[in-house]
Amino acid sequence: MNETVLSIAGLTAGYGSGDILQGASLEVRRGDVVGVLGRNGVGKTTLMRTVMGLTPSSAGSITHNGADVTGLDAEERAVRGFGYVPQGRMVFPHMSVEDNLRIGALERGRNWRRLEDMYQRFPRLRERRRQRAGTLSGGEQEMLVIARALVGDPDILLLDEPSEGVQPNIVKDIGALINELNQTGITVLLVEQNVELMQAAARVGYVMEKGRITQALSEADMHDGERLRHVLSL
Ligand SMILES: Nc1ncnc2c1ncn2[C@@H]1O[C@H](COP(=O)(O)OP(=O)(O)OP(=O)(O)O)[C@@H](O)[C@H]1O
Ligand SMILES: [Mg+2]
Repeated sequence: MNETVLSIAGLTAGYGSGDILQGASLEVRRGDVVGVLGRNGVGKTTLMRTVMGLTPSSAGSITHNGADVTGLDAEERAVRGFGYVPQGRMVFPHMSVEDNLRIGALERGRNWRRLEDMYQRFPRLRERRRQRAGTLSGGEQEMLVIARALVGDPDILLLDEPSEGVQPNIVKDIGALINELNQTGITVLLVEQNVELMQAAARVGYVMEKGRITQALSEADMHDGERLRHVLSL
């Protein structure tokens, strides 16, 4: 069994008017792709934001490679190896593709060399490097935000609903990309409501309901599409 990269225990967080996360716990092992399934509004994005350090936790702990990072801010977590791809394709729409990537490099010690790596992995982004990010297609914008996170050379990538609003053929590309990234050694925590993508990319998973993790999904469970679809109604 591989070592634990990310361990979340009893994590509680909210936005001032009560807790949204209510003691969520899960574990992610090195080299794994772990899915989190849950219907709209159960707190999946809040979980990802809290793990990244963008929303403060009020109880519980987050451990990364054996170190407690609960008290660190998002920048410190990025330096330690957290990469975050927010829901909703948060590109800077009026900036060029290249400037969007440069922001990723700035955030991680001006690692400009990584831009070239990203252009090699995403030739479409190279072709469109001078284009304003807001004029890219939905799928291209998703690739851009993933590339922006990868510029920081993360060891764990937090992906929040990358398939949202993306055409089915591009959803396949995203699944293939997650598999490729995983093969390069990146561990992935994937929030998704698209069962096909979840099955294509995640090996095991967790079910989230009302701010808590309520079930662990084994490899066999992940093959059971009916079960996954049912989980999304809980
Ligand atoms: N910035 C915020 N301020 C106040 N409440 C918020 C904020 N962001 C989210 N919430 C509330 O927290 C709850 C959980 O939201 P969250 O975005 O974490 O759910 P989700 O599972 O990611 O949903 P979805 O599947 O629609 O993305 C919702 O009731 C939402 O209205
Ligand atoms: Mg969400």
